[in-house]
Amino acid sequence: MTAAALTRLEKLARAAAKSSYSPYSQFAVGASVLAGSGKTYTGTNIENASFGLCNCAERTAIFTAIAAGEKKLKCVVIYTPTPTATPPCGACRQVINEFGPQARVVSVCDSDDRLDLSLDTLLPGAFGPGNLG
Ligand code: THU
Repeated sequence: MTAAALTRLEKLARAAAKSSYSPYSQFAVGASVLAGSGKTYTGTNIENASFGLCNCAERTAIFTAIAAGEKKLKCVVIYTPTPTATPPCGACRQVINEFGPQARVVSVCDSDDRLDLSLDTLLPGAFGPGNLG
């Protein structure tokens, strides 16, 4: 993936956070994904008064991509409104694994701090489609 493509994904993730519905946490997260077709998709976190139903930005972006017909994720970028970069939560790691076990996962924030990791590092020994036999 080119540096320009990654920069574009970062901009998309930052912009997506502006649509966050996060009245309970006030934590506006944005995500973007580069899918197998080469197209990009975005998502944001969507909370609910029934707190357990809150959906993370990453999963919103991934489900949007899959609903559009994508089958594979090449890269996921997450923006959090924090001074240091934060990795995706466990649920999102599992969902990334379903469609992008080889995906690059990049986290950006309000400073130059960043994380650039493989899903392999984030979710070693993952349970996935292959384990269902
Ligand atoms: N959140 C995300 O969108 N992505 C993550 O990886 C971690 C957490 C959201 C969920 C909730 O709306 C808020 O951030 C606080 O946890």
